[in-house]
Amino acid sequence: MNESVPKLPVLSWQGISLAHAPARASLLDLPAVRFTTSGRAAIWHALRLIGLKPGDRVLMPSYHCMSMIAPVVLLGGEVEFYPIVADGSADMDYLRSATRRPVRAILAAHFFGLPRAMQPIRQLCDERGIAFIEDCAHALWGQHAGNTVGSLGDYAIGSMTKFFPVPEGGCIASSRHSLEGVQLRSTPVRRELKVLVDVLERATSFERLPGVNGALNVLWRIKAMLRGRSRRGVDEGPKDLLVAQAALADLDVEQAGIAMSRAARGVVRHIRMDWTFESRRAHFARLLACSGRLSGARPLSPSIPDEAAPYVFPLLADDPDRGFAALRDLGIAVFRWDWRWPGTPDDTSDYGNVWAHHVLQLPCHQDLSTHDMDYIERALVQVFGRSVEPVGPTTTRELSAKGVI
Ligand SMILES: Cc1ncc(COP(=O)(O)O)c(C=O)c1O
Repeated sequence: MNESVPKLPVLSWQGISLAHAPARASLLDLPAVRFTTSGRAAIWHALRLIGLKPGDRVLMPSYHCMSMIAPVVLLGGEVEFYPIVADGSADMDYLRSATRRPVRAILAAHFFGLPRAMQPIRQLCDERGIAFIEDCAHALWGQHAGNTVGSLGDYAIGSMTKFFPVPEGGCIASSRHSLEGVQLRSTPVRRELKVLVDVLERATSFERLPGVNGALNVLWRIKAMLRGRSRRGVDEGPKDLLVAQAALADLDVEQAGIAMSRAARGVVRHIRMDWTFESRRAHFARLLACSGRLSGARPLSPSIPDEAAPYVFPLLADDPDRGFAALRDLGIAVFRWDWRWPGTPDDTSDYGNVWAHHVLQLPCHQDLSTHDMDYIERALVQVFGRSVEPVGPTTTRELSAKGVI
């Protein structure tokens, strides 16, 4: 796949500030935070702090990506998948029944960065002595029923690559426990340099650093020539997509024990957080308006919650296989979680199953330019067609009643 629009944030002059601007509270403002190399490494640390032992049961959502599950399996935990309901929150009836037998931990996620109800899980975990991991990989900001994302979990985890122009990074955070037990080694100097080069190389490949793009691009060309490979799109073909997916099912324990590099943390510290928040919301709102007028797809969510700045825009497609392939052919890095952990139940009443096949996750990050957003909008109309009447969001239940899905 040729990356026509950046799939994840890219460093730009516009997005950085040398001063420390005060910003609205985020996951990173919880009382205890430690930066890891990835979100999955943060899940691994959380499970270790909880004291997960081989054979312990961990309840995980049926709608997931492989990297959420890998840490549990690596530590010998026994994963049991729970269904999700129409609004993306956990099926509490299932959880109540499943926790009659011993369970060590429950993980629940704010899918797409739209805050979900976590209070019922917190209450259940308190009643039954279970640890709760609040997965905020998609949600740096947001509230549900007055609870800020990350505040209800014993441990919350975040993924920096989804919100900042960095090639690595995650965090474990807690408003309830100390993180003294998270031991992290410092990053080797070679890796620090690689992170820095990766950040700059990506930024200049999208021409986001006027004034230095030219000089740095010459430098990267020389580097690429010395290594004998091209710069952009090296890992984007269909075969490489499979390789990238397989990598998600893996967790490098060596890397999990290392802290997020100082280079990546430095970038995060200087990103304009309020601008990031507002841009993501604006892009989400634009995709909401545009996808409400498509004939073969519609927004999964009717609106954008006040305090949220989503990770991606979820689009519910009637023919997702075709839509996914066509959008990727057009260079739009749409994600889909149809590749699930072996043994995930195929229960048709579980929304996790419908979403795994039908939900396409479109980029809405802060570093999409107006030109990028125009391109995405045109691509959506080309792939899904325009409807005569605005259709707006439709529930998956309505769609299945109509026989669309
Ligand atoms: C919900 C969720 N949790 C955790 C992770 C793991 O984050 P990372 O990619 O930083 O390891 C991901 C990654 O996509 C995710 O989508």
